[in-house]
Amino acid sequence: MLKGEQVSYLDGSVGDIFNILDTGGRIFKNREVLRYSYIPETLPHRDLEIQTLARILVTSLKGSTPSNIMLYGMTGTGKTVVSRLLMKALTDRSDLLRSSMQKRFLELTASMSDPDLSVAINNAVELLGFDEVMGPDLKKDLNRPVKCIYINCQQMDTEYRVMTQIANRLAAFTEDDRLPVSGLPVDEVHDRLLAKLDETDSLTIIIMDEVDRLVYKSGDDILYTLTRINEELVRTRVSLIGISNNLQFLEYLDSRVKSSLGAEELVFNPYNAAQLRDILSRRAEEAFYQGSFDPDVVAHCAAIAANENGDARKALDILRVSAELAERDRSPKLTDLYVLQAQKKIEMDRVSQVVRTLPIQTKLVLLSVLQLKLAGRARTTTKELFEAYSFYAGRLDLTVLGRRQVVNLMSELDKLGLIQSKVISFGRHGRTTMVEASVPTTEVLACLQEGLLAKVKGMRPKLIYSTGF
Ligand SMILES: Nc1ncnc2c1ncn2[C@@H]1O[C@H](COP(=O)(O)OP(=O)(O)OP(=O)(O)O)[C@@H](O)[C@H]1O
Ligand SMILES: [Mg+2]
Repeated sequence: MLKGEQVSYLDGSVGDIFNILDTGGRIFKNREVLRYSYIPETLPHRDLEIQTLARILVTSLKGSTPSNIMLYGMTGTGKTVVSRLLMKALTDRSDLLRSSMQKRFLELTASMSDPDLSVAINNAVELLGFDEVMGPDLKKDLNRPVKCIYINCQQMDTEYRVMTQIANRLAAFTEDDRLPVSGLPVDEVHDRLLAKLDETDSLTIIIMDEVDRLVYKSGDDILYTLTRINEELVRTRVSLIGISNNLQFLEYLDSRVKSSLGAEELVFNPYNAAQLRDILSRRAEEAFYQGSFDPDVVAHCAAIAANENGDARKALDILRVSAELAERDRSPKLTDLYVLQAQKKIEMDRVSQVVRTLPIQTKLVLLSVLQLKLAGRARTTTKELFEAYSFYAGRLDLTVLGRRQVVNLMSELDKLGLIQSKVISFGRHGRTTMVEASVPTTEVLACLQEGLLAKVKGMRPKLIYSTGF
């Protein structure tokens, strides 16, 4: 927005003025809605999964321990969001049930014939808390509170970290002191976790998202401990919900862990294009101003994601990036054109991220393919590629790898989808492997030449053959 330029807002409400001035855009009403952390109130096309899970978990509200559950499904099928939504609904319901019980108890004491006793009970509740005043006899009739703890095992990937994380989340409930993130013997963390769990006298549901990552990194000891923990606890009961996008995950586990964690199993299927369209339409209505986007945009994003395994995250990413590009352009409307641009941008971001994390020698092989392309070789032979690679490695004072090793690096680049190599037959003249880039030359070269490889910027390799292929 330029200085002095008149600000106008679509629906005339002054409340939106900061949003418009802040972004300069006319599309986003609420950016949060398209972020990963946002949990929508409704999740279209997941009714069956929600109901199945809720039926298993509802027993916790009646004081019984639900079976452990494993949730599977490909990426972006809603496993995390469904569990988080249910987790919130369950704790809200548990709090509501308990507070209405407490209210009834207090109403009863207020109607007691001895007013002094009634005041004394009220004071005691305020001072000591409801559970203490009830005493163990009465309390057993009141269901245990349900607590839910969400752990992302990609971040919490060791036994120690998982246990301290659970204990510290419980500490927040009981306002106890926290366990240090490192330094204690595992046995001690285990004992303190048990003590803290029992202190809450609750039914604790632990959601272990991306649990396969934890097992690959640290083995299944922690799962063994957690699936047996109820045998060691006196008051609290624990249920586990494991989430993984690897359907074979349970096969890697000890058979006792496998049968306990997989007591119930639920598979989330990928969304189809029509389902993704419904999901996106709801999110778009919440996220964007009315009339600021073409309906085709939603259908287009849904169709792209449906082609790529029905991943709702992918669909939301394309929608969000399209809207950001339209806003950057100060476009009054989000059109299909921005969806195409967004698709390219997302792909380029993915490629840049992969390229930046390649080892230096692999980067050099890719750089050679791209420089040869700039020199006129849309496709090149391994021989010519090896010459170009040796030239750059020499210029950078790096060890010059042998031909075999370069061929191995080439096949790694091929697997990552950055180059393509094909064996071409020249009839009686034999066969040769031809290599070509599968990524945009200038953008990827710019990305490659950010660090050490900046030294060879602009240096062209020699071409061995006078003609192209
Ligand atoms: N039915 C739905 N309605 C609305 N949004 C959804 C729905 N399903 C998924 N999403 C959204 O799509 C994105 C991906 O969903 P989620 O994170 O739950 O996938 P996931 O199955 O856990 O994937 P991964 O295995 O990669 O962790 C999230 O932003 C989520 O809010
Ligand atoms: Mg997930």
